[in-house]
Amino acid sequence: MSVAYPLFQAIGIKSDDSVAIKQLASKTGISVERLRYYDKNRILPSDTDLDKICSVTNIPRLKLKLLMGCLDRKTIAAIQNKAEEIYEIIKTDSPSLPADTTTPRLMFKTDYGQLYQGNCLDLMRDMEAETVDLVFADPPFNLSKNYPSGIDDNLNKSDYLEWCEAWLNECIRILKPAGSLFLWNLPKWNSHLSGFLNHRLTFRHWISVDIKYRFTIAGRLYPSHYSLLYYCKGEKPKTFHPDRLPLEICSHCYRELRDYGGYKHKMNPRGVNLTDVWYDIPPVRHKRYKQREGANELSIKLIDRIIEMASDQGDIVFDPFGGAGTTYVVAEMKHRRWLGIEIGSVDDILSRFQKLDQERDYLQQIREGYNCLFTNKTVKVRREKGLWTSESVREKAQMCVKTQGKGKKKALGIQTELDFSGINNRSKLT
Ligand SMILES: C[S@@+](CC[C@H](N)C(=O)[O-])C[C@H]1O[C@@H](n2cnc3c(N)ncnc32)[C@H](O)[C@@H]1O
Repeated sequence: MSVAYPLFQAIGIKSDDSVAIKQLASKTGISVERLRYYDKNRILPSDTDLDKICSVTNIPRLKLKLLMGCLDRKTIAAIQNKAEEIYEIIKTDSPSLPADTTTPRLMFKTDYGQLYQGNCLDLMRDMEAETVDLVFADPPFNLSKNYPSGIDDNLNKSDYLEWCEAWLNECIRILKPAGSLFLWNLPKWNSHLSGFLNHRLTFRHWISVDIKYRFTIAGRLYPSHYSLLYYCKGEKPKTFHPDRLPLEICSHCYRELRDYGGYKHKMNPRGVNLTDVWYDIPPVRHKRYKQREGANELSIKLIDRIIEMASDQGDIVFDPFGGAGTTYVVAEMKHRRWLGIEIGSVDDILSRFQKLDQERDYLQQIREGYNCLFTNKTVKVRREKGLWTSESVREKAQMCVKTQGKGKKKALGIQTELDFSGINNRSKLT
């Protein structure tokens, strides 16, 4: 079910026909190794190689590009110009819905959510359009992992991307206008999938989440971040209230890690703006915290941040890839309605819902560290050490105003009216 042909198929050679490949190599002067690289990775041969291949095979450049599905903007524009004619030729080829759909089974219900077992595509095809406020998706990464569900995690590149596009299309269809979609994947896959999403939704951010996820491989950089794509349907998201983070401090001496010089009085007492690089999301590795052996499980901290940023209480959150159910657990605790599905066993998710209190305590701890410049513990230690806190800076500023009079306020650059009344302490779970 590949979308485009790899090089050998495009020029009519079987990829296991080493005699034909050797002949092509000798006629073009391109090494067998390089030809195989183009074929395996479905990469359009570089300019001079393309010329040689086209002249030896008598296939025009444009035709080879079309056969390989490697379309640049110029080619796409040419296709658009001829859309009427092309449509007439290919209209009967348009893909039809697969016949072998199975209705997912409802396994579990809470006041807020419903968990199904089955294929997410089957569930979504049954859902009405524009009914979900937030989609978060963490699909398998096609890394040949052994999932408990036994799914094929070793598809060829083209089949994997085609599968991703199929369920993303459904996610986009069920997303409400102004709803948000987050896609968690390796940069390798998200670099392709963002191209697909850019034509369908509005790009908001490529968030890099700093987590080391593999061992070093010789000749490669150490893979150290996951990609979290953030899109919304329409121009702006309905909901956007990102948490603010505390200042980064040294865990030994409690001093801030960066020098804010004379500007600390200007710092927002609610903490610093969230950026698109997240350094503080822990991997879930420790057995004590992991709910499920042998498969990826995301941190509650990550899901909490996304749900907090892009949904309100009562909104509907949908995650098509249940795994250990992190999204559903967090949505439940944060009073969002949720809808979930897992193709494999849902036992881990069910047992997780039996011990929600532990998860609730952890979530509470996480949230207490947000929307303040320093956590309560840090404030206490910094006071003991004689280091500044929001309060001490404010008191100092007020003293200056009293002693130096109104006229000098501006010259000192002191913000005398820091308003603490509006501190939005969303860290409390309601
Ligand atoms: C990376 S894991 C998700 C982990 C989850 N985010 C968590 O924190 O626990 C992906 C999950 O999707 C499931 N899955 C794969 N294909 C599926 C499909 N077509 N429909 C539903 N679930 C699927 C796999 O069995 C696996 O458990």
